[in-house]
Amino acid sequence: MIIFKSARRLQNHLAKLKEIDNKIGFIPTMGALHKGHISLIQKSVSENNYSVVSIFVNPTQFDNQHDLVSYPNNIENDIKLLDRISDNLILFNPDLDQIYTGKIISDVYNLGDLDKYMEGKFRKDHFQGVATVVHKLFDIVDSDNVYLGEKDFQQLRIIEELVLKSAFSLKIIRCKTIRDKNGLALSSRNKKLDISSQNIASNLFKALSFANENFNKKSIDKIYSEVESFFSVFPQIKVEYFLIADEENLKPVEVKKKEKKYRAFIAADISGVRLIDNLKLY
Ligand code: PAF
Repeated sequence: MIIFKSARRLQNHLAKLKEIDNKIGFIPTMGALHKGHISLIQKSVSENNYSVVSIFVNPTQFDNQHDLVSYPNNIENDIKLLDRISDNLILFNPDLDQIYTGKIISDVYNLGDLDKYMEGKFRKDHFQGVATVVHKLFDIVDSDNVYLGEKDFQQLRIIEELVLKSAFSLKIIRCKTIRDKNGLALSSRNKKLDISSQNIASNLFKALSFANENFNKKSIDKIYSEVESFFSVFPQIKVEYFLIADEENLKPVEVKKKEKKYRAFIAADISGVRLIDNLKLY
């Protein structure tokens, strides 16, 4: 695997690969790779000639300094994992100055109402930071396909809109959330939970599944109140939000419409670790 720290060197290398019509896949990450990332990377490897994985912990998307400095980081282990996947992988692991020249601040994007609810409401300016770094990374990597997990569904929708509005000629490939046997969605943050907290965290998926099983049987308010009482017996789980929202515009649902598709979204703090998850409702 070739590793680049310099954006310009990576761009020169990719330009040569593209001259001879190689298809390039891209998987942006913040490292601390787990099976969820690996499945995105394997999909990219199977659909492209070369795949670029970026590992860059983006400061502008953290609204909380403690969260940024304690974000799991194990680049040696990540490199070992990537090395085993394919010889056609390229790692882009830039230092801060390769991405932010000058001040480390977000640009301002009009994200419509997509950042109004859920993560957008609870993590101030988080999505401005995500849009900023993703725009910069897409400019540098200039790939044909980008692989993103549905686990961060609001982020996925926002990046889809960004691609449309900025006229990037790349395709976003939505990839299913990978879960542990107990349903817990894989996330780099799970590394901060001990086994007992991981088991407790699997109740987030139980609540989402309850919403799915009852979506066509009970009213939205009834689902919300039953989910609230379900969580009331777990003092370790502090739910920030549990919402059912339109999959397209991410607006919390008031009246269900047949032609619309919905998802249930949750964010909660478990033993000091903030987790998010979501599930499509059928
Ligand atoms: O999902 C992530 O890991 C990050 O938000 C991303 C898309 C790599 C941007 O920093």
